[in-house]
Amino acid sequence: MISISINNLTLKTPVKVIRNLTLVTALMASASSVYANTNGQAMDKPTMMAMQKVMKSDMALMKPDLQKQVQGLSKKTKMELMKILSGHNRRSKQLTLRQVMHEVLSDYQSIVSGLATDNTEQAADSARRLANHRLPVGGLIPYMAKKDVNDESLASLVGFNDLVEGNSLRLAAAADKGNTGEAASYLGKIAEGCVACHQVFRGQPGRSDRLR
Ligand code: HEC
Repeated sequence: MISISINNLTLKTPVKVIRNLTLVTALMASASSVYANTNGQAMDKPTMMAMQKVMKSDMALMKPDLQKQVQGLSKKTKMELMKILSGHNRRSKQLTLRQVMHEVLSDYQSIVSGLATDNTEQAADSARRLANHRLPVGGLIPYMAKKDVNDESLASLVGFNDLVEGNSLRLAAAADKGNTGEAASYLGKIAEGCVACHQVFRGQPGRSDRLR
């Protein structure tokens, strides 16, 4: 097992890179064994390997204490995270989660506009865009509070992901068929997913630390 002492924080870049790679390799090794155990039920092998690359580059961007936290997650959590990542092929090199979230909100509003005006094409496109929202730089984890980077909190992501992204895709399929009634019925479920995830992972936005 790899252990990081406080002293390592002062090491120069090349050593840091090697340390990052070692951590990443350890993470990947454990994820691969999960792949073997589940016999590819969750993801096919090429997807799995592509997601390992994504996790690897995300891990390399994290500071050592976060890398350590991520490395300590269970194999199950790591697999779930990779499954969630596999639903996204748009990644940003500079946007934060907050910026991505504002874009997600715009897409949600655009779905509503499309449905309200019988523009099923706008609704379907916006819903697919929402489901495949951009991932912020470093992935989702760096934007979670330190206390939430654990197996228990992260397990709830799977359900929130289906509520938001699963129902967005269902909405798009219904809109494609011109079935606006069914499409509209998913709006509430998507919103439930936004709210539920915020209850776990987000505090009240924009709070001042200058108030008593
Ligand atoms: C995976 C959990 C998760 C889901 C699902 C989610 N959010 Fe968020 N959202 C967050 C987190 C965490 C933040 C805080 C990000 C930050 O401030 O760094 C956030 C922040 C936001 C913000 C920014 C608020 C601010 O501080 O300016 C908006 C807007 C937002 N979310 C909209 C939505 C909408 C709309 C949906 C559903 C379509 C949604 N979110 C679904 C986790 C989630």
